[in-house]
Amino acid sequence: MATAATNPTDLWREELWRCVACGAPAEMTAAGDTLHCGSCGADFPVDDGVLVIRDRVTENNEVARAFYDGPLWPKWRFWEWYTFLCNGGERRSRNKVLRHLPKGDGLKLLDVAVGDGVYLPWLPPSWPVVGVDISRVQLSNCKARAGKRDLRLVLGEAEDLPVRDGSFDACLSIGAFNYFNDPAKALREMVRAVKPGGTIVISDEIPNLTDRLWFHKLGLPGLDRWFYHKVTDGLGPEFVAMVERFKSLDVPAIGREILDDFHYELIWMKMGYVMVGKAPR
Ligand SMILES: C[S@@+](CC[C@H](N)C(=O)[O-])C[C@H]1O[C@@H](n2cnc3c(N)ncnc32)[C@H](O)[C@@H]1O
Ligand SMILES: [Zn+2]
Repeated sequence: MATAATNPTDLWREELWRCVACGAPAEMTAAGDTLHCGSCGADFPVDDGVLVIRDRVTENNEVARAFYDGPLWPKWRFWEWYTFLCNGGERRSRNKVLRHLPKGDGLKLLDVAVGDGVYLPWLPPSWPVVGVDISRVQLSNCKARAGKRDLRLVLGEAEDLPVRDGSFDACLSIGAFNYFNDPAKALREMVRAVKPGGTIVISDEIPNLTDRLWFHKLGLPGLDRWFYHKVTDGLGPEFVAMVERFKSLDVPAIGREILDDFHYELIWMKMGYVMVGKAPR
């Protein structure tokens, strides 16, 4: 059921939104329950506080949606915790990524694949955030982490962001880039969404992480296989097949082509990466 936005002076009201059907500017209705495109007439409802741009997705995005809407992801969080533990704790580990964001009060941030918003409490509370994700369950959990922050959530795809050009100071995307249907298209969308010169920070596991387990270095390849199954059992067969298919994704090549001031660095004992750059001016 559609519910009205509670605050009439929030991000919904800004000249921020774009119609994904025709690309024209779109506006939130006075009731705050629909994003309306005056150009092509398309309407996008606000359902339980979430702007629904796209609720059907395909290919990788559908594999990810099913996984993140299902029961396995919360269990898999254990491995994230374990990785952070091995890398000096949560603050230090998350900061490997967040330190690349610009500093300042009131910066407007777009978080692509915001998930359940675990990064939100680590961001300055004065930053208004628009979070986009394809999982209703994750977005619903994300709401609980809004606190007093000006946070607006969108059910939609990274590859087709419902925001106007140059609307944000920075864009963050953690834990999803490798398996977007089209990572290059998603990155171009992030570039479009931020101001010229705006910062984009992307982080994920290295795509071939499962080839880089350690036990074979100790002459124990059997333990690698055991560990691999232990970790990937929690991902389900479709997600694991997707991970295997995209092992050779060349993330830095995508970033180098699209971003200015390109920087790519391995983090978390080389299990993850952070890719940073600026939207070309
Ligand atoms: C590992 S979670 C990361 C969530 C959060 N950024 C974090 O670091 O905890 C990956 C998220 O990406 C979302 N996702 C995957 N593909 C997407 C796409 N094409 N567009 C938007 N969100 C996507 C999933 O629904 C999921 O919530
Ligand atoms: Zn339109």
